[in-house]
Order: sequence, then structure tokens, then C-alpha cells
Amino acid sequence: MKLQYSNKINKIPPYLFAQLDELAQKVISSGKRLYNFGIGDPDMPTVEPIIKAVKKTVEIPDYHRYPSYVGNIKLREKISSYLKDRFNLKMSPEKNIIVLIGSKEGIAHFPFAFINPGEKVFVPEPGYPVYRDGTIFAEGIPIFMPLLKENDFLPDIEHHLKRNQPKIVWVNYPNNPTSAAASDKFYKELIELAHKYNFIIASDAAYIDVYRNETTPPRSILEFDGAMDVAIEFYSFSKMFNMTGWRIGFAIGNEQLISGLGKIKKSIDSGVFDAIQMAVAEELENGLSELSKIRNIYFDRREKMESVSAQLHLKPYKTNSTFYIWAEILDGMNSQEKVKELLNKYGILVTPGRGFGPSADNYVRFSLTAKDCDINELYDRRRSL
Ligand SMILES: Cc1ncc(COP(=O)(O)O)c(C=O)c1O
Repeated sequence: MKLQYSNKINKIPPYLFAQLDELAQKVISSGKRLYNFGIGDPDMPTVEPIIKAVKKTVEIPDYHRYPSYVGNIKLREKISSYLKDRFNLKMSPEKNIIVLIGSKEGIAHFPFAFINPGEKVFVPEPGYPVYRDGTIFAEGIPIFMPLLKENDFLPDIEHHLKRNQPKIVWVNYPNNPTSAAASDKFYKELIELAHKYNFIIASDAAYIDVYRNETTPPRSILEFDGAMDVAIEFYSFSKMFNMTGWRIGFAIGNEQLISGLGKIKKSIDSGVFDAIQMAVAEELENGLSELSKIRNIYFDRREKMESVSAQLHLKPYKTNSTFYIWAEILDGMNSQEKVKELLNKYGILVTPGRGFGPSADNYVRFSLTAKDCDINELYDRRRSL
């Protein structure tokens, strides 16, 4: 039988990190030392209180059954308290919060609830590829909004509104890959535009708790007036608690947007294992004790790798958020050439900007999730690189 993929699948380019994995494997099998700054997957183990909690929750037979489609109410209550403490938000656990199998799952499925074939979705570029892919699967049309250094990596949404009417506009701050943060002014104007032009704001806040301890924490778009009418915001426990492998996140915001996503999920999945949900609930109650330590580690690594990258003809964008360094290439190479040079000469693996979109071909991204010993070694050797 001759099998053919659907037209939708054919529109999706190969997943960037699968290609990077292949490159890394080649270096390892050639016996060379690899310093892996590729994928944003924390090297540190899941925070201890969650490990301890899950050892207990996994023993409870009630948690072995199908979980709630929209998330265990006890976890949603704890999320609601976290949102109150962190942003002074009032989110009803029943109406404004849904638990996800990682934020990626929610981001990919959200367009199914609101996009009809041919409707437009504004997507940041460079950006996390799932905004584009989810749009394509829902038969929408992604309209790419370049994020440029001269605009502090914020999109010029008004410019795009002159030509296209979107149904959804994706924003992601603190941003992957550029590490930029959003200003209050940007969020206020975006909310005004959403009311005026009648579009949904989908905000991806996966990195909202990864910031430099001494600075003002990044804000939620839902803190701003008028946002509850138009916005949904996606959160991840992956980066916050070093638990990418466990698959748990959540979304908050407008009741209709949350319930639309819930309708899709009811037909597709059956929620997150209750033992995991309850372990996270316990950690949220314990006051997020580990977060400050994790932030210090990332910002110590950032300072060291900024010095290292300066020796490699790269100029890092100065930021207080995310665990990424977005580094401009200063020696005229494009991003794929630079990635090859860094890998072949030094065994350093970074992500080419081009992989996140054509506007970023003069950048590479370091993920500061490499091991401390690797970072320290490069830092000590930096002057001889
Ligand atoms: C911007 C952004 N959003 C969402 C995610 C998905 O995270 P998770 O599904 O682990 O919550 C990632 C993962 O790298 C990301 O970089």
C-alpha cells in the first residue's frame, strides 16, 4: 500500500530539536567532548519536595483511576492561591483554570476550539514552533510577526492589523528564544487592540518564574484592565520545578476560552495522572521554596556564559529573564554556519536562530540548562578559546 501523509503534516518542517539531537549524537559517538546548550530542558533534578510528595501520592488507589478532564479541583485551588500571591489575580478554580499535559499540549490544542479553516493566527517569529503547528493542524493560516532587536523583540501588531484580521494573536514573554521581556505599555496596547479588532490574545507564560532574583518579577497579561475579556495565558510547571518529563502545566483566563479548550481536551485526552497533580499541589502549598535557588543558578550561569560567548564573536542580548542567551553573530556567518563552527571547533552545541524563523538568522541561542561543570570548564578556558 502506498501511504501518503496529510497535507497538514506535509506543511510542518522537521522538529528542530530532533535535528540537533542527531548532531549531538554524532559528536558523542566520535568520542569528542560535547557541551550541550541546545534544547531548553533543565539539567537539574525535579525539586525535592515534589519527589517526596509523589512517593506518597502514588500509593493512593483513588489516584490510579481516570483523572478529571480539566484537572483535579484541589490542584486548581492551589493554582488559584499561587496566582493570588504572585500576581494578585482572582481566578476561579472552577471557571478560569484548566490543568494541561504540559503547556505544549494546551498550546497545540487551543486553536482547535476557536479556528475555522482559513482564519488567521498571528504568530511571533522567531518563536516556539508549536504556535505555528497548532494553527496548521486547525487549518488556520499562520501570519508571522518578526521580533526584531530594534523593537526590543516585541512585535509590531498594528502593522500586521493593517493587512490581516486575526482570530488569535500569540505572544510569549518572557520570550523564547530571544529572552526579552514585555513592557506594561506593550500589554496595555495589545489589550486595547484586541478589544478594538475583536481578537483573542493567547499568552504563553512558560518562563514567567525564571527571572533574576533581585529584579521585578515578570507580570501576567491578566493583571491588566480588560484582559479577562479577551485573554488566555499558558503556564508550565516544567521550567519552574525542573519537571519537563512529568508533563504538567495549566492555562488561566477568560471563562469561555478556558471552557473551549476543555471541550477539545475532553475528546482528545484524559488528563494528568492524579498522583502528579497532587504532588504539585503540595509543593505549591509549601511556598515554592526551591524557586529562588534555581533562579540563582541560572543567573550565575548566564554571567559566565556571557563572558564565554564574547570570546566566540557573539553579542548576548542583556536580559533578566528566561534561561536562554540570545546571542547576535558578529563575524558575518549565518546561524547554521556558526552552529557548525562552534560544534566542530569547541564541541559547543547551540540552536541556530534560523530554526526559530527567518528573521533570526544572525542569532544563536544558548540554553543555560547545561551542566555546571561544563559551564565552569568553558568559563575557565574562555581566554584560550
Ligand atoms: C515558549 C515555550 N512555551 C511552552 C513550552 C512547553 O513547555 P511544557 O509543555 O513542558 O510545559 C516550551 C518548552 O520548551 C517553550 O519554550
